Amino acid sequence: IAHRPLFGKRVLVTAGPTHEAIDPVRYIANRSSGRQGFAIAAAAAEMGAEVTLVAGPVHLVTPPGVIRIDVETALEMHAEVEKALPSDVAIMVAAVADWRASDTPDQKIKKDGKGIPPLTLTENPDILASLAKHKNRPGLLIGFAAETEKIVEHAQAKLAKKGCDWIVANDVSGDVMGGANNAFHIVTKEGVESWPDSPKDVIARKLMERVADALAQG
Ligand code: C5P
Repeated sequence: IAHRPLFGKRVLVTAGPTHEAIDPVRYIANRSSGRQGFAIAAAAAEMGAEVTLVAGPVHLVTPPGVIRIDVETALEMHAEVEKALPSDVAIMVAAVADWRASDTPDQKIKKDGKGIPPLTLTENPDILASLAKHKNRPGLLIGFAAETEKIVEHAQAKLAKKGCDWIVANDVSGDVMGGANNAFHIVTKEGVESWPDSPKDVIARKLMERVADALAQG
């Protein structure tokens, strides 16, 4: 018999990068394969949850049973996340671009010999922080943090700043981006739980087991 501790629960996951157009052929993006977010969505669905996965541009197959919504930009991701509410749990794994170009011309910017074009940026919404203040705030709101040093300290600061319940912090000082492995710390107001380097699907299942335990405890 399948182990389905998340049966009947709605889980929202963001994954991948966002692409912010500079012109029709160029964009700004963060480095993200989407693999950790997709693994989390897959694990949640296997455990019986009703999963909505809002994905930036990635080259990954949709996990079985997951409702996937593809987006390009942070603004689109924000809108789709809000449409997916209410949700029992939201896990924001996406590497959202912090800024977008202020103007996006309809035509490709040409190298016309008149010098380098200026690029003016506008701040994107912080989707995680905005969910924390939303009237339909998910009961359990989880953010991610990629850190290269003082991992737990930075995660604790982020927890407070973003208003979320947990921060899953990973050490990206090694070769994590796009790789198969990740070392993790779950940082909550109560404390820190650390796990050794494990494959992203193993980490995803462990995280979702913790989520199921937290929901069961109310
Ligand atoms: O501030 P920082 O980007 O390090 O925070 C990372 C966390 O915030 C991740 O959970 C990420 O998905 C989320 N985030 C977001 N919207 C942004 C920036 C980050 O949801 N614009």
